[in-house]
Amino acid sequence: MKARMTVNRNFTISKIDRRIYGSFVEHMGRCVYTGIYEPSHSTADANGFRNDVKQLVKELNIPIIRYPGGNFLSGYNWQDGIGENRPRRLDLAWKTIETNEIGVHEFATFAKEINAEINMGLNFGTQGIDSARNFVEYCNHPGGSYWSDLRKKNGAAEPFKIKTWCLGNEMDGPWQIGAKTAEEYGRLAEEAAKVMKMVDGSIELVACGSSSIDMPTFASWEATVLDHVYDYVDYLSLHRYYGNQKNDLPNYLAKSVDMDNFIKSVIAICDFVKAKKRSKKTLNLSFDEWNVWYHSFSNDKKNEPWQEHPPILEDVYNFEDALLVGCLLITLIKNSDRVKIACMAQLVNVIAPIMTEKGGAAWRQTTFYPCMQAATFGQGTALTPIVDVPKYDCEEFSDVPYLETVALHNETEIVIFAVNRSQEEPLDFEIELQGFNLANTATHSELAGHNPKQTNTKQNSPVFPKDTTAKVAENIVMATLKPLSWNVIRVGVK
Ligand code: AHR
Repeated sequence: MKARMTVNRNFTISKIDRRIYGSFVEHMGRCVYTGIYEPSHSTADANGFRNDVKQLVKELNIPIIRYPGGNFLSGYNWQDGIGENRPRRLDLAWKTIETNEIGVHEFATFAKEINAEINMGLNFGTQGIDSARNFVEYCNHPGGSYWSDLRKKNGAAEPFKIKTWCLGNEMDGPWQIGAKTAEEYGRLAEEAAKVMKMVDGSIELVACGSSSIDMPTFASWEATVLDHVYDYVDYLSLHRYYGNQKNDLPNYLAKSVDMDNFIKSVIAICDFVKAKKRSKKTLNLSFDEWNVWYHSFSNDKKNEPWQEHPPILEDVYNFEDALLVGCLLITLIKNSDRVKIACMAQLVNVIAPIMTEKGGAAWRQTTFYPCMQAATFGQGTALTPIVDVPKYDCEEFSDVPYLETVALHNETEIVIFAVNRSQEEPLDFEIELQGFNLANTATHSELAGHNPKQTNTKQNSPVFPKDTTAKVAENIVMATLKPLSWNVIRVGVK
């Protein structure tokens, strides 16, 4: 099969906001405890964080981490995680015991060490305006007030300077503690946002969109909430998880089409409200939960309640999951004009690219690699891809291109990310790069040649990227994309 992409230096989508390669750490399962934090582990640092995990997290180049939930957030009291004598609480969202050993101070230390900023979640389930404004004051006010002085007393002389704040989590979901109607949430978020920005005018706020495009209230939820908060917030959130329950690979790999449709639909709603309000402001999106999540469904039904950090949502990812994650990352880049933040859920153990064993090893899941390569090489300006490639129909989607691809450029190189969705055929891929002065060398890294169900485990991790070749002739780059492959092609510019 043949495919051709043409890009032109002048036809751009947007400068990519690095924060689209974000992650998410929730106080659930073994993400925090025995994930990033395990004081008794042989690699633990002075603060109890696992150095082996930190090393892997640093490889992922994560710019921002959403914290501390998730569903956990809606019953969480941030004051439980500061100072001495932290209470053990029932976490009603996941029916576990939360020990509160980790709170904002400890997490800020971790985030600083891995060079990530925090996207801080606020409890809008059981709490609201007062708790939100106090937390902003605690984290960001320099001093001389009750909450900022308490932060200093608790060991942080300097403010944490947290820029991005989420006004709750999935507040439309009936499973959410303190779930609300769009009207109830919209009013609360509007008033809280106003007051939070009075405390610190430099912060950015994310309002809750629907918890998925499948929610019956999708679209009207967004429109009603935005009617209230449009002038006060900076982003609207999207959440979406995918799975291959029917073991239908062509359909599974096409699910990035659903993500694209979801993003375009939410943009349409934001722009509808913009027009209705005659507003000059364009609202951007925070796709702050996305991933593959389905492998652990049956295991999680067996968990006994009220354990401390039990193993939940521990999906073991396979090669086909890595390919879909690659398609989803490309989709985020293709929508980088409006998606400015995106957080893969989650970072360690809980539907995560990194797995750990309590007291033992840490390793990279298959999905680690597209995330790591996208965050490392996906910096610069995304270019509008004009792609000519055969298409296929499958159960949920029609006209799905066999090739999912995007190109971007920065001062030193042009980078092309590409997934060949075909199970049988290699793709002869020709890329015309107009308006560039190319160095005549290119590198090509591929994740390819595996059974779709191949996993990486503690004992055996065969799925990792390997180098292959790409040719450059004048302004054309040529590469062969193996059947079922994730590819990163990098071409130097003079
Ligand atoms: O990431 C797992 C859960 O998925 C989060 O807690 C929740 O926000 C979503 O439903």
